[in-house]
Amino acid sequence: MRGATGIKAAAGAKPAGAEDESSAAQMVRQMFNSIAPRYDLLNHLLSANIDRLWWRRAARRFRSVLADPEAAVLDICCGTGDMTMALLKHRPEGARPILAADFAREMLTRGARKFGARGAVALEADAMHLPLRSGSLDLVVTAFGFRNLANYEAGLREFHRVLRAGGQLGILDFSEPGGMIGKAYALYFRRILPAIGRLVCGAEGPYNYLPASVGRFPAPPAMTALMEEVGFAESAWNPYTFGIAGLYTARKPAAVVG
Ligand SMILES: C[S@@+](CC[C@H](N)C(=O)[O-])C[C@H]1O[C@@H](n2cnc3c(N)ncnc32)[C@H](O)[C@@H]1O
Repeated sequence: MRGATGIKAAAGAKPAGAEDESSAAQMVRQMFNSIAPRYDLLNHLLSANIDRLWWRRAARRFRSVLADPEAAVLDICCGTGDMTMALLKHRPEGARPILAADFAREMLTRGARKFGARGAVALEADAMHLPLRSGSLDLVVTAFGFRNLANYEAGLREFHRVLRAGGQLGILDFSEPGGMIGKAYALYFRRILPAIGRLVCGAEGPYNYLPASVGRFPAPPAMTALMEEVGFAESAWNPYTFGIAGLYTARKPAAVVG
């Protein structure tokens, strides 16, 4: 997966046994549907609640666009809705509802219970084929979902399509920190976390898939390069908590007039 530059080539998620992009997506959907009842519990347990800080910090980054009541906002791969809830904290009274979309119904149903009465609407949709008009959104955000897409480049192209010129993108996801912290974290992430996940979840696959999917995910320089390649500008990565996670940001360039 690494080229001459040492940068990982962009591809997409590939759960064990997946043969192509369509079977990879189907396996991802099935996996999240199966872990949905325990997803929140495990998430908070395995991250010692740091995930809450990450969602809040990511949402704060977009507070100026969220403060506009007319802004059209999509939280894609919303799952059980915690990123959506963090975004909603910055919406003014009577603002246009946030669209919260996911393709795993069991995850989305749980999310809708949290955000349904708080100013977001649930949409069952695939991130790779959004049922939304081109140029219709001011902000697309995704938390810990992008890494699961079967084709990262196609996913970015779809986000670019639905954003209006000048619209913003935020992708919050895991990363692999370097140095001593990276070594200690790798031990936790690759050995301890899958064991706890197996115990609570009672299933082998999902928590082996998590570290494997982070290992396949492009490193920040490759990811920001890919964002620029598909047409985004101002792409950047902001590490959170020693680079265990981080927020990618970018903007669809404003239309050139004349
Ligand atoms: C790790 S969960 C993250 C959920 C939530 N955003 C959070 O931060 O807790 C990843 C979510 O991405 C969704 N997902 C993965 N691939 C998707 C796709 N192609 N289209 C829509 N949702 C997808 C999964 O169903 C799952 O709910």
